[in-house]
Amino acid sequence: MKKEFRICPNFMKDRNLYGFDWLEHVTAIPSPLVLVTCYKGNGKTNAIMQSWLSFSNDNGFYCIFSSVNKYSHMYSAVKANKQLVINFPDASIYKKCLSTVDHNRYDDDEIQLADLTVKKASVVNAPMVEECFLNLECEYRWEKELYPGSNHVVMCVKVCNVWMDENHYQENLQGRYGETGYLYNIHSPLNPESGEEEETCLGIIKNFRSYKEL
Ligand SMILES: Cc1cc2nc3c(=O)[nH]c(=O)nc-3n(C[C@H](O)[C@H](O)[C@H](O)COP(=O)(O)O)c2cc1C
Repeated sequence: MKKEFRICPNFMKDRNLYGFDWLEHVTAIPSPLVLVTCYKGNGKTNAIMQSWLSFSNDNGFYCIFSSVNKYSHMYSAVKANKQLVINFPDASIYKKCLSTVDHNRYDDDEIQLADLTVKKASVVNAPMVEECFLNLECEYRWEKELYPGSNHVVMCVKVCNVWMDENHYQENLQGRYGETGYLYNIHSPLNPESGEEEETCLGIIKNFRSYKEL
């Protein structure tokens, strides 16, 4: 039976959701995991894990970050120089990418501290992560506060150059999906009746059926 969820249950009101809404956990919709890199004002590399994003096409290929924290180094660095790279890790290097969350002081060279390799992007002035199988070189286009006064902005960037590992774009080799491909964030799914919450975990995606076979 389908049930309706509109009012936050009392047991959720006492939990620290770190700024997330309880409906985030009721729905637990998976979203792609990326590491966004750019240069800070001091020339050091900045790396930020992002998982609230999607893509759009119209006269170009665009990424829409749906929740960029205004107090992140990424936000101030991208506002200042308007250039960034979206790097897609596979599971083999995910732990290293995640470690950037613990090395995010302004003076940190965050890619180096994560034991990852910097490659200079060719079109934009931003560092890329060599170990990631896909890198999207991007230029900032616009942003909008989620609501007036929000700590988060929706930010649109235009993809202007793409690097992709050949083993990943050949589906008969490693391919883009499965255990060696794109990663998804499965953010602590919640049973809204019992209050039971699963741990956040790493998701993968696989081909199920072609549209012809539906
Ligand atoms: C899995 C995961 C996903 C995240 N997604 C986002 C996101 O979409 N937007 C955001 O602003 N922060 C996100 N964060 C938090 C930032 O990665 C974290 O605050 C980071 O250290 C900020 O880096 P910076 O201040 O050096 O730019 C995420 C963190 C993790 C672990």
